[in-house]
Formats: sequence, C-alpha cells, structure tokens
Amino acid sequence: MNILVTVVAGYIGSHTVIELLESGHRVVVIDNLSNSCEKSLERVEEITGKKVPFYQVDIRDREGLGKVMGSFLEETGQHFDCCIHFAGLKSPNESIRIPLAYYDNNINGTLVLLDVLRGYGCKNLIFSSSASVYGDPAVIPVTEECPKGQCTNPYGWTKSMLEQILMDMHTADPEYNIVLLRYFNPLGAHRSGLIGEDPNGIPNNLMPYITQVAVGRREELSVYGDDYDTPDGTGIRDYIHVVDLACGHVKALKAIEEKCGLAVYNLGTGRGYSVLEVVRAFEEANGLKVPYVIKPRRAGDVAVSYSDPSKAERELGFKAKYDIVDMCRDAWNWQRKNPDGLKCENAIR
Ligand code: NAD
Ligand code: WQD
Repeated sequence: MNILVTVVAGYIGSHTVIELLESGHRVVVIDNLSNSCEKSLERVEEITGKKVPFYQVDIRDREGLGKVMGSFLEETGQHFDCCIHFAGLKSPNESIRIPLAYYDNNINGTLVLLDVLRGYGCKNLIFSSSASVYGDPAVIPVTEECPKGQCTNPYGWTKSMLEQILMDMHTADPEYNIVLLRYFNPLGAHRSGLIGEDPNGIPNNLMPYITQVAVGRREELSVYGDDYDTPDGTGIRDYIHVVDLACGHVKALKAIEEKCGLAVYNLGTGRGYSVLEVVRAFEEANGLKVPYVIKPRRAGDVAVSYSDPSKAERELGFKAKYDIVDMCRDAWNWQRKNPDGLKCENAIR
C-alpha cells in the first residue's frame, strides 16, 4: 500500500516505518521535527537500507500538506491508500501548563490533515490513541468496551476528542475505514540500538528515567507512590515492546484493506507489571543497579491499568512477542549506545 505517515523521527513512528518498509509498503513521511530530529530518519534508512521520502511539514499547514499529496500524485499517478497518524504533542504534564498548544496542535492539526486527505481521496486512517482515554479504568483488564473515562489532563482529552471526531466522520461517511489503536505503555527500542526513546529534558515516563539513571545522567529514580492497592504498593501498567506496537500497525493495515469500517483495538500484552517489578527486571536483564527513592503519588496517576488484548489477537492476528526482559534489554542497549540520545539540535521545543 501507499502510506502517508505523519512522523518518522518520533519514538513509535520511527519503529513503525521500519516495519512498514520491511513488509513491502511504500512510505512517505512528514514531521515538523518539533520533538525529534532528522538523525532518527537517517538511522531508519541505515537499518532498512531504504531511502524514505521525507517532508518537513506541520500537520496544521494545509498548503504544505497539499504539496506533499500533490507531488505524490504527480510522481506516481496514485493516491495514498492510507494515512497512519502519529503526529502530536504527548506530555500529560506539559499539556496541563499549555492546554491551548495541545488542543491546537493535536486537534486542529488532525482536522486540517483529515480535510486535506479527504480532498485527495484518502479515506483510510490509523490513529495513535492511548489507554489514557479510559481514565481510571472501570474494568481490569481493560477491554475496548470499557467506557471511556474522565481524562486527567488536556493531552488525554485530545485523544478522547479525536476518537469521537473520527467516529463521527465514519458515521457521516461509512466509506471511511478508521482504526483507533489504543496503545498501553510502549518500552524498549529497535534491537540495533540505533533508534529508541529520546525525550527532551527530564523524562516523564518510567523507562527513559530508569535508563538515564543507569547511564549516570540522573542520580536516582523517584518511585511515585508505594501505597496503591497493589501487591507491592506501586502502580501497575501494561508495558509493550515498541517493535510489537509497530507490528500492530502493519496488522491494522490488513484490517483497512479488508474494509473494516470503524474498529477500535487495545495494543498491549495483557500482563501488568508494578514499578518495582520493572526496576528489578531492568536490573536483572542488564546486571545493573538502579537506585530509587519512594516519593508521594504523582497527580493524575491511576493505580492499575492493563489491557485485555484478545480482540486484537482475534481480529487482527496481533500478539505481542516480546516480554519485559526484552524491553529492558533493548531500552538499555539503546541508551548505552547513545548516552546523550541523538542530540537533536534542531528540536524546536
Ligand atoms: P514522539 O514525540 O516521539 O513523536 C511524535 C512526533 O510528532 C514527533 O516526531 C514530533 O516532531 C511530531 N509532531 C508533533 N506535532 C506535529 C505537528 N504539528 N506536525 C508534524 N509533526 C508533529 O511521540 P511518540 O511516543 O512516538 O508518540 C507517537 C503518537 O503516539 C503520539 O500521537 C502519542 O500521543 C501517541 N501515544 C504515545 C504513547 C507513549 O507512551 N509514547 C502512548 C499512547 C499514545
Ligand atoms: C508508569 C508508572 C508512574 C516515572 C503516560 C501517559 C499516557 C501515555 C503513556 C501517551 C506509573 C511510575 C513513572 C517515574 C515512576 N502516553 N513512574 N517514576 O503514567 O502510565 O502513562 O505515558 O499517551 O498518556 O500518562 O506512564 O511511564 O509515566 O508511568 O514511579 O519517574 O511508573 O507513577 O505508575 P503512564 P509512565
């Protein structure tokens, strides 16, 4: 298929582009590089041995998007068959401080993108949604039927609202095929260690914090809360290897090809790990110590969230292959080979 991917340089996008190319798809990518850099694209090309057509375009830039789609049509005589839409701002904490930037970037950006895609006849879309749409999940393990909940930050609301917008579009025009993928917690990196999670500034997420402690960039991990109603008192999440997550997108493309209409899938492993279990798994997998201190709970965190992944297995044939040891090993392999990340001088945020 001809696929337009909004982002190549980001964490999940870069891993997905590799899987798409390796599955024989033709890929064109756009990114405004606000949270990533071209070095990551170069590394994707190194891993795959393929050149990836890249345009530095913001998804809010109607004219820029039109040029990308127009040039593709002119060069190939074909339209894009599907758009995989990752582009967005993703920090829950930051979104509390600058909500308008989040609503503008994520919601306005997606509206512009959808409109331009429609103008070029592309009615197939895979959207990066998030387990955060469940809020504090009403059911554990979380099935797709679990009611969406109260999000605890504007970032989560952008995902929840965009899901609704996409559902409304499908209702208005059933020719649309839209897959909403609700990611649980991606971890790890490509086994080459050439690409991985590369946050700007202080990491919000657990694993990049752990790897930065292990590599000596930070003194100790803060474990946010040991008084949850869980066996060891720390929060439980469903961590999924980023390469498994990437493969989930290739499976979702098959659903699009089979004209799935509107479909919603959790992408997780179905297994929850506590914060302290992740720390121990990391230490054992890599023969390292990760000093930590217990701190108060982090505002907005839920105690337990892990998926029921059976719908994706049943309908897409998707099942995560990697376990927590693989995730910890690959995350560390990336960090130790790139102790300072990719040093993206062009990152504008
Ligand atoms: P990331 O920040 O690494 O990648 C996002 C990319 O989007 C970056 O390359 C950034 O430059 C680009 N971007 C942002 N705004 C843009 C715009 N207006 N125009 C063009 N490009 C723009 O994040 P990621 O972790 O790879 O996440 C990818 C998607 O998955 C996001 O939509 C995120 O919300 C979603 N998601 C992530 C997680 C997670 O834990 N990482 C979980 C659930 C959902
Ligand atoms: C995991 C666990 C923390 C950091 C967030 C977003 C969500 C999604 C994924 C995009 C929790 C604990 C963490 C640290 C810690 N992103 N923790 N010390 O909170 O499940 O989800 O990322 O869609 O929207 O909210 O992931 O990795 O931040 O935290 O103790 O320094 O680790 O309290 O229990 P979370 P996380």
